[in-house]
Amino acid sequence: MRPLIAGNWKMNGLTEESAALARGIRHGLGDAAAEVLICPPATQIAAVAAILAGSGIAVGGQHCHTGKFGPHTGEISALMLRDVGATHVILGHSERRADQGESNALIACKVSSALEAGLVPIVCVGETAEERDLGQQQQVVAHQLEGSLPQDFVGVVAYEPVWAIGTGKVPTAADITAMHAFIRAELKRARPTAADARILYGGSMKPGNAAEILALPEVGGGLVGGASLVAEDFLAIIRAA
Ligand code: PGA
Repeated sequence: MRPLIAGNWKMNGLTEESAALARGIRHGLGDAAAEVLICPPATQIAAVAAILAGSGIAVGGQHCHTGKFGPHTGEISALMLRDVGATHVILGHSERRADQGESNALIACKVSSALEAGLVPIVCVGETAEERDLGQQQQVVAHQLEGSLPQDFVGVVAYEPVWAIGTGKVPTAADITAMHAFIRAELKRARPTAADARILYGGSMKPGNAAEILALPEVGGGLVGGASLVAEDFLAIIRAA
């Protein structure tokens, strides 16, 4: 399977800079071996999708509601993301688990609504620094997978250790390999519909470490935050894949 390199712009990007970044990535892409996805803030999805039309670069959302329509002020449904050009949606990112108090059960409902709308969900899991210090990382990730993935899950899983996000810290190659093997085994055991799902690594992926991380067994691509906001850095990571 081709690796997937997904850029998560988080809450960054007004109209002009988003358009310039999307154009820069489109023009610099060349013949990429990787599949490429950009997840801008919701306000920029339609414009970015228009800029990337025909380029092969996909566009995604960063979260969605559990329902389709209704009295949920400020919310965005999977169907609405799809309507403006998204094909993917990131769900269960640790920033939303922490800032919005998203539970595993809520995330599972969102994943189901994404699948129903025809979006590919990218479900994030990962332990905190404290949990790793206590040696609980596999237990934590197993619990997140069990709770956040509906029984019929198909899509992408992203392993993002919370302590590696935006910090410049990266787990050792051995630690990434061990966790990706563990996630693969859990999917095979408990979610056979997702037995072959891509498992992305995320957390301080940069041009300088991408090639090494992306070459590890069971690493099916990357979920890139900070480095996806600089066209040259994101393109370098795509080339590393
Ligand atoms: P980072 O973010 O690359 O800035 O560490 C990754 C993410 O949160 O998806």
